[in-house]
Amino acid sequence: MARPDLCTQEEIRQLVDQFYGRIRADPVLGPIFDAHIDDWPAHLEIMVRFWSSILLGSGEYSGTPMPKHVALPALNASLFRRWLDLFHTTTSALPNRDMANQADELAQRIARSLWYGYQMNREPNRMPAELDND
Ligand code: HEM
Repeated sequence: MARPDLCTQEEIRQLVDQFYGRIRADPVLGPIFDAHIDDWPAHLEIMVRFWSSILLGSGEYSGTPMPKHVALPALNASLFRRWLDLFHTTTSALPNRDMANQADELAQRIARSLWYGYQMNREPNRMPAELDND
């Protein structure tokens, strides 16, 4: 799955910078991120390590995204879909198509699993809804 020759660290940094540039400018998602992130450069460093780990298998990331997202109030399927839309808009402009396709697939899978985990943690007695329908 992870491939050390898929892309460079520089390409990952560009993806992260461009994507979070879009996130911060987004009228819906921007304020949610800004309410929880005090140190943007530090967050971007974490995200570069995260994407290096899952795209290249670099093993640089050792955090736990699930509890961090479960702790965020009022997430819903439409916010996850918006996140994915912005991600896809960013990857669609990448010249490295292999990297773009792999990143899209991973983002989709992780978004689905975070949304699932979010619902299971918050409403354990309800059937979790899919990402595609509210
Ligand atoms: C509605 C969608 C999402 C929102 C609003 C959101 C928001 C956030 C926020 C506010 C943080 C910082 C949390 C903190 O430091 O306490 C964070 C961290 C993070 N997010 Fe998301 N996120 C979303 C979806 C995703 C998806 C789909 C992925 C992966 C593909 C992802 C990966 C991460 C990672 C790896 C971290 C760093 C966790 C750590 O500190 O180790 N997020 N997110």
